[in-house]
Amino acid sequence: TVPVIAIDGPSASGKGTVAARVAAALGWHCLDSGSLYRIVALAGMRAGVALDDEAALAALAAALPASFADGRVLLDGVDVSAEIRSEACSVGASKVAVLPAVRAALLDRQRDYRAAPGLVAEGRDIGSVIFPDATLKIFLTASAESRAQRRYKQLMEKGMAANMESLLQDLQERDARDAARPVAPLKQLPDAVLLDTTTMDVEQAVSFVLERVPA
Ligand code: CDP
Repeated sequence: TVPVIAIDGPSASGKGTVAARVAAALGWHCLDSGSLYRIVALAGMRAGVALDDEAALAALAAALPASFADGRVLLDGVDVSAEIRSEACSVGASKVAVLPAVRAALLDRQRDYRAAPGLVAEGRDIGSVIFPDATLKIFLTASAESRAQRRYKQLMEKGMAANMESLLQDLQERDARDAARPVAPLKQLPDAVLLDTTTMDVEQAVSFVLERVPA
């Protein structure tokens, strides 16, 4: 079977950066599952669908006209890479992600990413639901303060407006929603290796994962 590295963890822990770097180092495919929930939220908001309308959102998710090319995310062929990173889409994604029918609609789409020579997938339920047979499971986290700081820096670099206090509050609200939902809650699995990056840089986190990939 094709090997999978599952990287799960809370918001803004640096999963995306670490997963992309590990995939590049190994020459493997990469799945940013959070972007799928972000696209569903964006598509819902654009269609005027309420973010708790489970049936309508699941229908959108099942027929999502989304594609990924050269690190960009396209919805209906239009580049929405920046838009899906907005706070509105971050909050929206965490709301649509509590809906079981939306998660079910995105299941096969995520499993289809498993292809030779290997896959690095990151999210909240990769090791628990999407690829429970993953070769290596990592729970990547960092203190809430350092995660808020990283998100702040990211937004600043992109010239987007940001406020530390509201970012921190927002992160904590989304973490709580992710951990409390009945379906696929965020938690550290017993068979996952803990990677706390509070005092680590990206290089160190990437090496930590690479050192643990079975030969
Ligand atoms: O970038 P950040 O870590 O803040 O979020 P993300 O990974 O892009 O995910 C956005 C939202 O989608 C999260 O707040 C989760 O609620 C949800 N999500 C999920 O439920 N399951 C996943 N596998 C990935 C994301």
